[in-house]
Order: sequence, then structure tokens, then C-alpha cells
Amino acid sequence: MRIVITGGTGFVGRKLAERLLRDGAAAGPGGARQEISEVVLFDQAEPMPPIEPTNRLKIVTGDITDAAQVEALITPGTGSIYHFAAVVSAGAEADLDLGYAVNLDGTRHVLNAARKLPAPPRVVFASSAAVYGGEPPLTVDDETPPTPRTSYGAQKAAGELFVNDYTRRGIVDGRSVRLPTIVVRPGRPNKAASTFASSMLREPLAGQTAICPVSPASRMAILSPRRLIDCLIALHEMDGDDLGFNRTVLLPSISVSIGEMADSLRRIGGEAAAARILWEPDPFIQKIVDGWPGAMLAQRAESLGFKADANMDEIITAFIEDDLPAQRRLVAGG
Ligand SMILES: NC(=O)c1ccc[n+]([C@@H]2O[C@H](COP(=O)([O-])OP(=O)(O)OC[C@H]3O[C@@H](n4cnc5c(N)ncnc54)[C@H](O)[C@@H]3O)[C@@H](O)[C@H]2O)c1
Repeated sequence: MRIVITGGTGFVGRKLAERLLRDGAAAGPGGARQEISEVVLFDQAEPMPPIEPTNRLKIVTGDITDAAQVEALITPGTGSIYHFAAVVSAGAEADLDLGYAVNLDGTRHVLNAARKLPAPPRVVFASSAAVYGGEPPLTVDDETPPTPRTSYGAQKAAGELFVNDYTRRGIVDGRSVRLPTIVVRPGRPNKAASTFASSMLREPLAGQTAICPVSPASRMAILSPRRLIDCLIALHEMDGDDLGFNRTVLLPSISVSIGEMADSLRRIGGEAAAARILWEPDPFIQKIVDGWPGAMLAQRAESLGFKADANMDEIITAFIEDDLPAQRRLVAGG
């Protein structure tokens, strides 16, 4: 079976591809486990650092906003699609047309391309906790209605509705996941307003300084990349009928303050690492962070057996084990 990951050379796509290739098999359409013959990473960006294609890993460069390219990508034999291609929050807010073209039209192109497949593929769509919005302090759960306050959140909420509708029509066997902020993200800082939450841990552990623009008292709901990949695989493997009509699942997370994140860095990385955090308050970023849910109660995901990290120390330890060696190479390479 062929598995397509859109946005596949991005952070989550790369990690998922490694895991799928390691696992070697996944639930095919209809549920029976099948051997994974090929994982296809579709993205407009070249992978950085480069990925060596193999006989089971293919990289296709293209644009999700082009329906014909997406149709050519989703060939017969495609059993599953992980749809991650997206313009992230600040990018979609800065460019209305681009955000809607990639985050909304792109999702429709993926779902439409599935119409010509012989069997409805499993589709896992990466939505976001940005579908929530309201007055702080905000604690959300599965019952909290989506009231996004950004274009990105609106585009993700719309994508969830499309996934439900195309599933109802039997075109795909869809599942949407609302991701909390994923920490510690390896690589370089990105354009997301949340980028500091990874930088303030990742850079000090790799010997660099990092700016923390928000107050130690601010709280965030976070999940590690390691647990995220476990959740994505579990959601893909489960029987979609067990989700019922509403195919959207809020992923579990832990609620931690920025101060607790720094304390954990000090415990694990030592005083020298903690001293590399430069506390430089930025009212603009602080206001954005104040508008995010500080805690999210994901009862549905937990009842399905999806697990958050035990605590902040576990999240930092997972980064050290999984990503710090490559991060150090990246830093050394300039
Ligand atoms: N990482 C997080 O904390 C987080 C939180 C909430 C939601 N999400 C969602 O999860 C998914 C994966 O996130 P990520 O952190 O890996 O993001 P990422 O930015 O690393 O990856 C997204 C990929 O999409 C690609 N892309 C953008 N426009 C494209 C286009 N027109 N055509 C083809 N590819 C295009 C980018 O090149 C990038 O490689 C995204 O949909 C994101 O919105 C992530």
C-alpha cells in the first residue's frame, strides 16, 4: 500500500514518515493490515536537511493549491493520506489569499482526489487547537465549540467539517486531529507565534541562547513530537466507525507554565542551560499567548487510549534522545 503525506517534508511529516517506514505495515482501506510499499512526501519545499530517497520513500515536489497536481499525486494504490500541508498561523494571518488557497482549497483538493480511488482511503487531517478562541483564561474540552479568532483557525475548522462530510458520503474514511502546540520541535525557529516555546528549550540544550518573550506565569497546552506520532498512528489504525459521525479528536496535552518549562530545563540541562534563556518580554507575543487555551481536556482522546506526556521532564528527555544529536549537527553546520 502507498501512503501519501502532504506537507511531508515539514516537521511532523518527516517524523511520521520515519515511523511508518520503521513499522512497515498499516491498516489499509477496510482495516486489514497491509505492507507499506511506498511513503510519498508531497511538499513545495525541498527537505532541509535533505532526505535520501529510498525504494520505499519518494519525494514529490508540488503545490497543494494546484488541483491537477494533487489528482496526479493520489494514484490508485494509495491506501492512506496524511494531510499536513499548511501555511501556519502567522503566515495565514498575514496573507489572506494564501491561507485560504493552501489551508482550505488544498484540503478540498486532497478530498476530491480521493473520489477516483477504488476504495475510500484513510485520511488523517492535521487540524489545530487554533479552532478555539475566546476570552482568556480559556480552558477547552471536546464540547467547546470552535470559535476561531484567526483565519488559520477558521480554515482548520472548515477542513474538519469537510472531512466529516466526505466521510459521510463514503469518499474517504477520515479523521481530524486538533493538535496542541508541539514541543520540543527540532530544527530552526519558524514563523509560528508559539516558536519560542520550543526555542527556549532546544537552543539552550544545543548550547545557544534563546529569547523567551512571555511571562513565566503564562500557561500552554503542549504535547511532545514522540507522543504526537503515537497518537497519529493510533488514530489512523482505529476503526473509523468507533468515532461515529464526528471524526474530530482533540489530542491530549499537559498544561505547563513557561516558568515550569524553564525549571525543567534547569533540572535536566543544568544551570548553564537555564541561563541561556534571555527573558525579554514582548507585549505583542504575550497578547497572542494570552488568547490561547492554557489547558485542554481531551476526554475523548483519553478514552480512546491516546496518551499525553507524563510531565515536562519527559518531554525534554524525549527531545534529548530523539533530536538533540541532529540539532547539534545543524547548529555546528551554521
Ligand atoms: N507543530 C505544531 O505545533 C502544530 C500545531 C497545530 C497544528 N499543526 C498542523 O500540523 C500540520 C503539520 O505541522 P508542521 O509543524 O509539520 O508544519 P510545517 O510547517 O513544518 O510543515 C508544513 C509543510 O507544508 C508545506 N506546504 C505549505 N504550503 C504548501 C503548498 N502550497 N503545497 C505543498 N506543500 C505546502 C510546507 O512546505 C511545510 O513543509 C500542519 O497542518 C499544521 O497546521 C501543527
